[in-house]
Amino acid sequence: MTEARPAQRIVVTGGAGFIGSHTVVALHEAGYVPVIVDDLRNSHESALDGIRALVGEVECHRVDCGDADAMAPVFERPVLGAIHFAADKAVGESVAHPEKYFDNNVGGTARFTALLRRHGVKHLVFSSSCTVYGEAESLPVAEDAPILPAASPYGYTKQACEDFLRMAHGAAEGDLGVALLRYFNPIGAHPSAHIGELPLGPPPNLVPYLIQAVAGIQGPLTVFGDDYPTEDGTCIRDYLHVCDLAEAHVAALAWLEGNAGELDTFNLGTGCGCSVKQVIAAFHAATGLKVPHRVGDRRPGDVTAIYADPGKAERLLGWTTRRSLEECLADAWRWQQRLMNDAH
Ligand code: NAD
Ligand code: WQD
Repeated sequence: MTEARPAQRIVVTGGAGFIGSHTVVALHEAGYVPVIVDDLRNSHESALDGIRALVGEVECHRVDCGDADAMAPVFERPVLGAIHFAADKAVGESVAHPEKYFDNNVGGTARFTALLRRHGVKHLVFSSSCTVYGEAESLPVAEDAPILPAASPYGYTKQACEDFLRMAHGAAEGDLGVALLRYFNPIGAHPSAHIGELPLGPPPNLVPYLIQAVAGIQGPLTVFGDDYPTEDGTCIRDYLHVCDLAEAHVAALAWLEGNAGELDTFNLGTGCGCSVKQVIAAFHAATGLKVPHRVGDRRPGDVTAIYADPGKAERLLGWTTRRSLEECLADAWRWQQRLMNDAH
């Protein structure tokens, strides 16, 4: 009979946020013990209630993940690995306040990594983004595609964090394994509707705006340009379900456990490109509801088309997406309905 191994604590910075909360649930389901570190600067106490409804009591530290004193209790018991989601992520805000983004995203990652090294933590999974590729020269985009000059300070912070982590990995001489995960466009919500995305203010991203437009919370969706050189003239992205993305973090941790001290980069997407008009049609197919929308100007900084070659994640992590676009949109809509019911 094989001995059950002791439950392993995994620190999840940004664990109350959109992707973090779903990953906490996936870690719990996989038998890890997630430890949330989140000062709730871009999330809400109710996200923690939603997590508890799914996994029961969970260790949570409401502190800045780069604050060494406040973080000391986190490391009082052994930590196997960390998933570092905590960052600011609003592209437009980053243009107006680059100093905020350099400090929290790059400085925060450096401070948190120093804590991991000080406490002998062996595995780090980092939230990077397909934004590092910019307007890719060929599609689908693989991990060895060139990294182009960033279109925003936010995008630059992801490039800088990747570079920093490569250097920290070298300096740690095999004592710190790192998985750099480049997410494409995560959408959707947990099918239970206990957790989902909670944008503070009008959502800048397509699906959160779309569902609020359908709910009547926002005016009609503006399609940002229909004169792009694509089949229907609208931009193409690779939308993946946040629960699929959450499962990729569990797979990355397992990969790090089996490949101690390595560093590698993985694209996380479906491999399929989908236009804005196709998302609108898929929402109608999934829910029977029409999306009020009009076509407007292009949004500065948008690339025409990008979608992943997720083959490396499939080969090395054993991970692929399992959920359809319609499932993503039905789950996002169920979550929106839950929020509206709770408000009444
Ligand atoms: P989110 O804003 O919902 O979650 C981030 C969480 O981190 C929030 O709960 C916030 O309160 C917390 N946080 C921020 N700085 C902190 C700090 N210094 N200490 C403690 N907590 C802190 O964002 P998300 O969509 O879940 O994104 C998670 C990560 O994935 C981010 O690094 C983001 O840049 C990256 N990413 C997101 C997307 C996307 O489309 N959502 C795409 C690619 C990459
Ligand atoms: C998707 C498509 C828009 C809103 C952003 C960040 C990126 C990454 C993921 C973190 C585009 C169109 C959108 C609207 C629209 N985040 N759109 N009307 O721009 O691909 O990526 O989130 O790393 O860094 O830039 O996602 O959801 O904003 O836009 O027509 O009201 O929807 O033009 O084609 P994007 P998005």
